[in-house]
Amino acid sequence: MTALYTPEQLQIRDLAGAFARDHLAPHAAEWDQAHAFDRGVLRQLGELGFLGMLIPEEFDGLGLDTLTYLIALEEIAAGDASVAISMGVHNSLPTQMLLRHGTSEQQERWLRPMARGELLGAFALSEADAGSDAASLRAEARRDGDDWVLNGAKAWVTNGAEADLVLAMVRTDGAGGERRGARGISVFAVPTDAPGYVAEKPEDKMGLRASNTCSICFQDLRLPADHLVGAAGSGFIQAMQALDGGRLGVAAQSCGIARAALEHSTAYAGQRRQFGRPIAEFQAIQFKLADMATQLSAARALLHEAARRKDAGEPTSAWAGRAKLFASEMAMRVTTDAVQIFGGYGYMREYPVERLMRDAKVLSIYEGTSEVQRMVIARDLLHA
Ligand code: CAA
Repeated sequence: MTALYTPEQLQIRDLAGAFARDHLAPHAAEWDQAHAFDRGVLRQLGELGFLGMLIPEEFDGLGLDTLTYLIALEEIAAGDASVAISMGVHNSLPTQMLLRHGTSEQQERWLRPMARGELLGAFALSEADAGSDAASLRAEARRDGDDWVLNGAKAWVTNGAEADLVLAMVRTDGAGGERRGARGISVFAVPTDAPGYVAEKPEDKMGLRASNTCSICFQDLRLPADHLVGAAGSGFIQAMQALDGGRLGVAAQSCGIARAALEHSTAYAGQRRQFGRPIAEFQAIQFKLADMATQLSAARALLHEAARRKDAGEPTSAWAGRAKLFASEMAMRVTTDAVQIFGGYGYMREYPVERLMRDAKVLSIYEGTSEVQRMVIARDLLHA
């Protein structure tokens, strides 16, 4: 890897890798089983600057490029995929929206402390009846004098009960139940200590059990006008732009999970003996490991190409879609093969690969399903 990357990228990779090895991997199984979200770990990541990786130094961030950030995120995900999604959402979605569209007052007030890891961010787009069809969302904000009053419910919000600030997409076109589509949606910065912010109990998930996911409700939640981020009506486009970056993060998380599965499988195949020899000596196992390694390398190569294109200022949506589609489905295949290599032990909680397989499943669902990624890629091909 060394010749392809800058010394800074390798240094950040090593820092993230050491943190994951020392502070995440040893606890991942216990956090998964306890369904425990550890805000202390995010504080430690904040101290390393890892909650401000894409934020310029003038706002106390590390000011790194996309590729370097994704290299670090893969390392964190290899240690604990739940921590990686909390970190990924914060870095890719709310902070990037404030950076691109916030006023300088909003950036001082929220972006700077978010870059330092003092405030944790979340992103609220989906609703119970608006998942892939995000533009059909119904939560709304209505003007009341100089204020906005928010009502409605958001679903599957990563960090929803732990965040300090949620960037929420709500209707401001007064459309009520009627589907008015993308143009009537705006973004609000919602402090989670505002009266009327309600975080429901954490969801009981198949995987990523140590990350916090919950529904949130806005109940007559009153915000001053200066909490509107960007122009009224620009919210859907802001969310889609942010998700282009978020989807690269999910692809990096996929590579981290798959890499952990491959490393565990390789080590296990060398130790586990059947028919009088290590199972690594059987071609059936060798071919599985070879396919796992090849798929992981292909996903990472695609992801890094997408990142380099983003850093070069090229349009990213379709490349992010390709990287997320391929990497997330690769992670599911690789982790399923890992469970197969471990055999009966692989199905047991005391070995790590069943957790990795459970963690991998959501990668092809959140931040846009595989089907949505195919829509994005196909639209780009057909309309180019
Ligand atoms: N960048 C900039 N603009 C974009 C864009 C992008 N990536 N994608 C769309 N737009 C613009 C379009 O150009 C269009 O603009 P005009 O009105 O000027 O023409 C407008 O947005 C509407 O676009 P579409 O007509 O394409 O919208 P659509 O209703 O057909 O939806 C979709 C397209 C791709 C299916 C989109 O709805 C989508 O991505 N859905 C999935 C949503 C998603 O990923 N949700 C995950 C939420 S986060 C999460 O999982 C939880 C968490 O905490 C991490």
